[in-house]
Amino acid sequence: MAMAESLPEDWDRWKGQVDLTGYDERWQRMAEAGENPHGEADLVSSFRPSSVLDAGCGTGRVGIELAQRGMRVVGVDADADMIAAARAKAPDLDWRHVDLAALDLTEQFDVVVLAGNVVPYVAADDRPAAVVACARALAPGGRLIAGFSLRPDWPTAGDYDAWCVDAGLELEDRFATWAGSERFTDQHDYLVAIYRAA
Ligand SMILES: C[S@@+](CC[C@H](N)C(=O)[O-])C[C@H]1O[C@@H](n2cnc3c(N)ncnc32)[C@H](O)[C@@H]1O
Repeated sequence: MAMAESLPEDWDRWKGQVDLTGYDERWQRMAEAGENPHGEADLVSSFRPSSVLDAGCGTGRVGIELAQRGMRVVGVDADADMIAAARAKAPDLDWRHVDLAALDLTEQFDVVVLAGNVVPYVAADDRPAAVVACARALAPGGRLIAGFSLRPDWPTAGDYDAWCVDAGLELEDRFATWAGSERFTDQHDYLVAIYRAA
């Protein structure tokens, strides 16, 4: 299995601006304000997976929630600090320091989730390979579920579609939020895409 490689400038900039404890507290504040901080976990859970790969797991907020709901979870991330933070929060879970573009797991998963702008934070040249590697990690009929903001200079919905189709996946659904209540249109600035393996 390849170890983590260099992360893009966009990611370094984001990380430079964010204190990781503060990042985690943001979700606690959402819960305190009566908002649902577990939209990603809820959408993933709706497919009743028994195993989930949290791809670009960061500090583990999605993977930890899914593990608490009874799923077998593996979290992978290219940033050693993020993996260390996830491991500190949930030492018993399976966290691996790996670059998605070089991911080569022996296990397969019912769902691979790319939550919280992982797709745009993967280095531009590596994005197609990262999607292929995520697709390869899916069990037959498994789902790749990704959500990310659509910003200038970031991947478009069309870019992501093309990478998924090239990886042999079939589009199942597209939403504008993790709540899944609104279908994605060209007017939206956030995409949640669900692709399915054959
Ligand atoms: C904004 S964070 C989101 C973290 C987490 N998924 C969440 O929703 O809280 C984006 C994550 O993508 C990870 N990442 C970026 N490029 C990656 C790559 N090539 N391989 C694995 N992880 C990557 C970063 O290290 C970072 O932890």
